Amino acid sequence: MYRQGDLPHDDLVARVAGKQGLLSVVTDSIDRAVFDAGRDLKVISTIAVGYNNIDVSAARDHGVVVTNTPDVLTEAAADLTWSLILSMTRRIVEGDRLVRRGAWKGFALDFMLGTDLRDKQLGIVGFGRIGKAVAARAAVFGMRVAFASRSAVSSPLGEAMPLDRLLTTSDVVSLHCPLTTETRHLINQTTLARMKRSAYLVNAARGPVVDEAALVWGLENRLIAGAALDVYEREPEIHRGLLALENVVLSPHLGSSTIETRTTMIHLAVDNLIAVLSGKPALTPI
Ligand code: GLV
Repeated sequence: MYRQGDLPHDDLVARVAGKQGLLSVVTDSIDRAVFDAGRDLKVISTIAVGYNNIDVSAARDHGVVVTNTPDVLTEAAADLTWSLILSMTRRIVEGDRLVRRGAWKGFALDFMLGTDLRDKQLGIVGFGRIGKAVAARAAVFGMRVAFASRSAVSSPLGEAMPLDRLLTTSDVVSLHCPLTTETRHLINQTTLARMKRSAYLVNAARGPVVDEAALVWGLENRLIAGAALDVYEREPEIHRGLLALENVVLSPHLGSSTIETRTTMIHLAVDNLIAVLSGKPALTPI
């Protein structure tokens, strides 16, 4: 019996032979070897919105339908993003650590000051469903929204701008783009250096969108004020440099992890699988 994510790739390849459907999670690498071995496969149903772990062109070559679980996790992912923004700018996790180690000496006017969000700019990179849901919550906190997107050119939710302008003008930069060859290491030494020294970076998208070594360098050299991350380049490994920094909030890939959302995602993924296996169209093909 394997836990999710524990199925070694060789075992997956060996066991997919003769199977028609595969229900997968983000940690399963569904590459060409899986399709070559799984000659009977009709459908890969991933319990996630992101599908960078699936070789979609190999799926097409083998005539396999790939489905994901969009929409149902949008609000949970946006809530998680805001919990990262708030806990980072108000130093909640750092404060929790201080309280637990018995280092709190009591109230003081100048103690553990954070930063206001009101009248600041939230820069959203990638303006799909989740980026928009994050933007929709910004007005409550008095933030104006800027976004950089390959597809959306205008939106009532905020101002479209080129990535470089977004980076140089935003107080919080939040990543919501998929992981592709274009977005891998989108945040690197060069782009970090373009950000405001007072700015915060949030990544609840995919780890490799950020060059983690560059981020550690940027934080150590105070190029930015802090970072909040839900995803990492080599999960579950975390760069040691990040672990050593107080101005970093780290959560363990929790974007969609509420009971309600995960239950709905699993139902949708199973419905997709059953639909394709019974010769019907998938509910949410990619
Ligand atoms: C989770 O990371 C997802 O893509 O749903």
